[in-house]
Amino acid sequence: MSVFIAPSVLAADFANIQKEVEMLNASACDFIHVDIMDGVFVPNISFGIPVTEAIKKHATKPLDVHLMIVNPDHYLEAFRNAGAEIISVHYEACPHLHRTLQVIKSLGCKAGVAINPHTPVSLLEDVIQDIDLVCVMSVNPGFGGQRFIENTYNKVKQLKAMIEANGASTLIEIDGGINQANAPKLRAAGADVLVAGSFVFSSPDPIETIKNLKSIS
Ligand code: DX5
Ligand code: ZN
Repeated sequence: MSVFIAPSVLAADFANIQKEVEMLNASACDFIHVDIMDGVFVPNISFGIPVTEAIKKHATKPLDVHLMIVNPDHYLEAFRNAGAEIISVHYEACPHLHRTLQVIKSLGCKAGVAINPHTPVSLLEDVIQDIDLVCVMSVNPGFGGQRFIENTYNKVKQLKAMIEANGASTLIEIDGGINQANAPKLRAAGADVLVAGSFVFSSPDPIETIKNLKSIS
């Protein structure tokens, strides 16, 4: 199976969101990554439910919604209704993570857990069977265009080993600072899904950039 590519619309032109989503529809990408920031969990505010609905209105690919917010439980149903197929919550924002995962699944969505760069993958061991996707943050969440943190490779290898040891089918997603140089190394370490924001949208030909990322294996 080839790697899945999830461009992040955080780096798109919001004034032309329909055009940007139609470009993604026409590309080789697999998901559309939607970054929700609340100015509390992370030191930045992106956009919320109405913009997610607007993206969904034009999207032919599944929405992969990354909630960088406190109290995500309060908004799970709203994001499902806005069109999310995958909902990822942050480990650091969920005191009752197991319950939150069950709620996401009961809404008919795939359940994801994102972990900050300082959060060890070992903390997921007791819930790995319940997680459809782990989003390993390879930058500190809050902003696009940051530099990739090299320790991510170790985390991906550890996570891959944990998933295999538990016979789980959890996908490994990497988010932040991804480009054509680190993508093959991440894939070799065990990554299944690569999120890319600025690398895709700042490139002269985003469709070609997505195709090149998709073809790494
Ligand atoms: C960071 C977001 C990322 C971001 C990635 O907080 O979760 O999804 O958009 O952007 P790049 O690819 O530019 O690092
Ligand atoms: Zn993200």
